[in-house]
Amino acid sequence: MTQSWTPASWRTKPGKHMPEDYPDMAALAQVEQTLRGMPPLVFAGEARRLKGLLGDVAEGRAFLLQGGDCAESFKEFQADNIRDTFRLILQMAVVLTFAGGKPVVKVGRMAGQFAKPRSSATETIDGVTLPSYRGDIINGMDFEAGARMPDPQRLLQAYSQSASTLNLLRAFAGGGYADLYNIHRWTLDFVNDSPQGARYHELSEKISEALTFMAAIGVTPESQPDLHRVEFFTAHEALLLGFEEALTRIDSTSGDWYDTSAHLLWIGERTRQLDGAHVEYFRGIKNPIGLKCGPTLDGDELLRLIDALNPDNEPGRLTLYGRFGHDKIEARLPGLLEATKRDGRSVVWAIDPMHGNTLTAANGYKTRPFDRILSEVKSFVEICKAEGVHPGGVHLEMTGQNVTECLGGARALTEGDLADRYHTHCDPRLNGEQALELAFLVAEKLKDDRVSKALLDRI
Ligand code: TRP
Ligand code: MN
Repeated sequence: MTQSWTPASWRTKPGKHMPEDYPDMAALAQVEQTLRGMPPLVFAGEARRLKGLLGDVAEGRAFLLQGGDCAESFKEFQADNIRDTFRLILQMAVVLTFAGGKPVVKVGRMAGQFAKPRSSATETIDGVTLPSYRGDIINGMDFEAGARMPDPQRLLQAYSQSASTLNLLRAFAGGGYADLYNIHRWTLDFVNDSPQGARYHELSEKISEALTFMAAIGVTPESQPDLHRVEFFTAHEALLLGFEEALTRIDSTSGDWYDTSAHLLWIGERTRQLDGAHVEYFRGIKNPIGLKCGPTLDGDELLRLIDALNPDNEPGRLTLYGRFGHDKIEARLPGLLEATKRDGRSVVWAIDPMHGNTLTAANGYKTRPFDRILSEVKSFVEICKAEGVHPGGVHLEMTGQNVTECLGGARALTEGDLADRYHTHCDPRLNGEQALELAFLVAEKLKDDRVSKALLDRI
C-alpha cells in the first residue's frame, strides 16, 4: 500500500465498475474541475457527529436504521418521493426506538445514491447489444445508444439534485415535520388500512399518551427540543470516485480530509479489493464509512480490510454490512463475527438483507421474496446474539411509494402483481407496508433481547 494519500491517489490503482468510455475525457475533467469549486454538501462536523453516534452503535448503546432507493433517479426526483421515504424512516424509527429502548441513528440512502455497479458491462435485447445502464450519474436507462453513452454533464445534475434533496431533508428533520407530536401524520395512505397500519396506530397512541404525561410534568418540545426534531444523515455507495474526489475537502477545524458529498459512504461488495482504487480512496477520508461483506469474504481478508480502513480501531469509523442471502448467512456470518471479536476490532455489525436475496421471476422481473428478507434479518439477530455481538442495524432498499417490486408481505404480492407498479431504476425495493412490517419484526427481536437482559440483570 502506498504511504502517501491524496484525494486523487486512487487513480494509480485498478478501479472496478467505473466507466472508461466517456467519449470526451477532456469534458469530464472540466466537469470535475467545476465540481471542485462547488460548495460542500455536508460539513465535516456533521460527519464526526455521525461517527460518534455510530460509536454508540458499535458499543451496543444504539441501533442503526439506514434505507432508501437502490438507485435515485433524475426522473423520479420529486418532493413527494423524498417526503414519503423520509416519513417511512420516521415511522420505522419510532417502532424500533420504542421496542429496543435505545436511540435509533437515522441514515437515508438518499441525496447522492446514483452510481451502480453492474454484473455485465453490456445488455442485449432482441439481438441488440448496448452498454449497461450504470445509474443516472453516468448514463441513461433508456435502451438506446445515445442514452447509454456516459455523459459528464450528469455529474453536475447529480450534484444539484443531491443538494436540493438534502436541503429538503434538513428542512423536514429540523423544521417541525419530524416533531414527535406529529406521530399520527406520518402514516402513508396506502399503509393506513393494512395490519401494519393498525399496529402502528396502536403504538402511536401509546406514545401520544406518554407525551401527554410528559408535557404535564414539564417535558415539552420547548423544554426538550429533541422531541421536535431528528438528526438525519445521508449516505451512498461512493462508486464513481472522480465525483467523490471533487467533493473531498480539507476540514479547517481538524486539518483532515472529508468526502463532503454525504455523511457516510460505503464500499460495495464488488469494489472492496484490498489493492483497488476504492479501498485506496476510502482509507484517506475521515468520514464514517461502510463496507459490504458478502458470502465470499473470509475472516482473514476482512481483518486485512479493517487494517486498511480503520487502523486506529476508532469506534463508529467502520460499519460492516453483511449481505449473504437467507440460505448462506448461517454458514458465513459466524466466522466473520468471530474474527472481528477475537481481534478486538471495534466495528458496527449491520445487515443488508436485500442483496443476497434477489431472483428473477418467471415473467422476467427481478424481485426479492419478502420472507427471505425477513429470514436473513432474523438469522442475523440470532447469530449476533449467539456470538455475543450487538446486532447493530439494518440497511434496506425501500421506498415510501406504493410499489410492487418485492414478493409477499402482508398483502402477499405475487409474481403476477409485480407488473402493476414496478418503478425501480435498479433493484426491487420494499414498499412502505413491507418496510414497516420488517421494522416490527426487528423490534420484536430487539425486545426479546431487552427482556432477556433485564431478566439476567435480576439474577
Ligand atoms: N429526537 C429524538 C430522536 O431522534 C426523538 C424524536 C423526535 C423522534 N421525532 C422523532 C424519534 C421521530 C423517532 C421518530 O430519537
Ligand atoms: Mn441495490
